[in-house]
Amino acid sequence: MSLIKKALERAKKERKTSLKVWQEEAEEVRASSQEIRPPIYSQTRCVQVDHEKLIDRKVFSILEKDEVADQYKLLRTMVLNRTRPVGHNTIEITSFKEGEGKSLTCVNLAITLAKESRQNVLLVDMDLRRPSIHSILGIDPKPGLRDYFLHGIALKDMLIHPGDIERLTVLPAGGRMDNSSEIIGSHGMENLIRELKGRYQDRYIIFDAPALATCSDPLILSSHVDAILLVARANHTTAEDITSGMRLLNDKDILGIVLNDSQVRRGGAY
Ligand SMILES: Nc1ncnc2c1ncn2[C@@H]1O[C@H](COP(=O)(O)OP(=O)(O)O)[C@@H](O)[C@H]1O
Ligand SMILES: [Mg+2]
Repeated sequence: MSLIKKALERAKKERKTSLKVWQEEAEEVRASSQEIRPPIYSQTRCVQVDHEKLIDRKVFSILEKDEVADQYKLLRTMVLNRTRPVGHNTIEITSFKEGEGKSLTCVNLAITLAKESRQNVLLVDMDLRRPSIHSILGIDPKPGLRDYFLHGIALKDMLIHPGDIERLTVLPAGGRMDNSSEIIGSHGMENLIRELKGRYQDRYIIFDAPALATCSDPLILSSHVDAILLVARANHTTAEDITSGMRLLNDKDILGIVLNDSQVRRGGAY
């Protein structure tokens, strides 16, 4: 049986008990949370996002009561439990190949952290070759990181706050960059991360990165973040993909592997 299939079987068996345990843990995390004030969006552009369209694009984390949203709450709890005690707040989300659900996981995790856990969250579209956070959220892609790297535009001029998702701020990619590795490997990237970490110390910063197999961007980025979350997709990611990905990231702090698209419920997903 493949690694993914085994994980699936195990996940199915454990789902009922683990959901209860995770829900209890989530309550504890919430109860022990120190209230962090929401940011004051005096300079950040506020835009409205269309909830119906978000649901069409599988952003189920905006729903109050939903089985898929519950799975993202479990993921959120795992992330909080593994990062908060050690003071980690910068997380890269990557996968082995394209199309495994990185961007969708980023958006759903960011919304769940912001809405449910009252964490301030900055979601950064660092997949400069195939940016998609803006299209999932239905927001303007520009200006964004491309303009920051090429034209030195200020961070505050690129940030977007989706109005009705309190505590969430988005830094879009600003357009495609086929030479992203040169940029990401440059001092520009170091400066960006330093600036983000310095300015937004009270926020979780989630980076949507390209796939490990496609370019060196995710590896370069991995040296600048506290931890990495990997996404694997059922019936898509192979055991070999996982092995080679883990080998590439061997000395990095890996929070875990999200098994995406694993459960056939609600018409097939997760
Ligand atoms: N669990 C899922 N169920 C259904 N569709 C999904 C699921 N995860 C991802 N998708 C779809 O698969 C495509 C690729 O997902 P995406 O998050 O863009 O992957 P990546 O960022 O890894 O390339 C998108 O069209 C997305 O809506
Ligand atoms: Mg993507």
